[in-house]
Amino acid sequence: MTTEHRPHGNGPSPNTETGPRPIRSYVIRSGRLTSSQRKAIDNYWQDYVIEYQTSPLALNALFHNKADTVLEIGFGMGDSLLEMAINTPSVNFLGVEVHKPGIGKLLHGIAEAGLDNLKVINHDAKEVLLNCFEDESLWKIQIFFPDPWHKKRHNKRRLIQDEFVQLLASKLKVSGELHLATDWEPYAEHMLEKLDTCEMLVNSAGPACYSASGDRPVTRFENRGKKLGHKVRDLRYVKS
Ligand SMILES: C[S@@+](CC[C@H](N)C(=O)[O-])C[C@H]1O[C@@H](n2cnc3c(N)ncnc32)[C@H](O)[C@@H]1O
Repeated sequence: MTTEHRPHGNGPSPNTETGPRPIRSYVIRSGRLTSSQRKAIDNYWQDYVIEYQTSPLALNALFHNKADTVLEIGFGMGDSLLEMAINTPSVNFLGVEVHKPGIGKLLHGIAEAGLDNLKVINHDAKEVLLNCFEDESLWKIQIFFPDPWHKKRHNKRRLIQDEFVQLLASKLKVSGELHLATDWEPYAEHMLEKLDTCEMLVNSAGPACYSASGDRPVTRFENRGKKLGHKVRDLRYVKS
C-alpha cells in the first residue's frame, strides 16, 4: 500500500517495470494551479484524497457508512460530480482524475459544501480499477466525455477498449450501471460496439441504441461540445 502524501507530485507513478510503456489515455498537462486550487490541495488533500494503493479499498471504512458507491472516471474540473454529490447525500461518490487543477478545484468545492460523501483518487483510472476495488463492489461507474483521441493513430489511447470494458463490468455489482457519454460520434459508435459485445452488460436502450441522459448534470466538456454543434450521446448498461 502506498501511504506517501504527495499533493504536488506528478500523479501516477512512473512505469518502473521493464517492458513496453503502457499506452496512456491522457497526457499530464503542465497547466498552472490557480492559488485557490493550490490552497485547496494544501489544506484538504489529507481530508478528501484517497491515496492509490495496490490492494482493494475498504469502501465502507472510507465513508464510514454502508451506502452504495458511484465511481466517476475522469471528472475534469469536477463541477458535475460535485453537483451530483451535493444532490445525492445518501450515495457515496469517488472521483478518479490525473489532472491536478481539476483535483484542486474539486477539493475546494467539497470543503466549501462540507461534503462527507465525495472523495478523490489522483491516479490512472486503469490501475485504480484493476487494483483498488473488489469485483462486484461498485453500484455505478460513470465516464463522461472521455478524451476522444480523434486521430486514427491515437485511437488506441481511448479509454474504452475491450480489456477495460471487461474490467469495468467485473467491478460493478449485479444490477449496477455503467453510464458513458460523448459528443464525438465516431467514439460513440466505438463505445456501442465494445459495450454491446460485453457478455456481462445489457444495453438499457436495446442493442446498438443510445440512451437518454437521465438527470445527470451537464459537464464542462459537454457544454464545449454543444457550443461546437456536437450532438451528445449517452450509453447506459446494466450488469447482468
Ligand atoms: C475530456 S476530459 C472530460 C472531463 C469531464 N468528464 C467533463 O465532461 O467535463 C477527460 C478527462 O479524463 C481524464 N482522464 C483521462 N484518462 C484518465 C485516466 N486513465 N485516469 C484518470 N483520469 C483520466 C483527463 O485528465 C481529463 O480530465
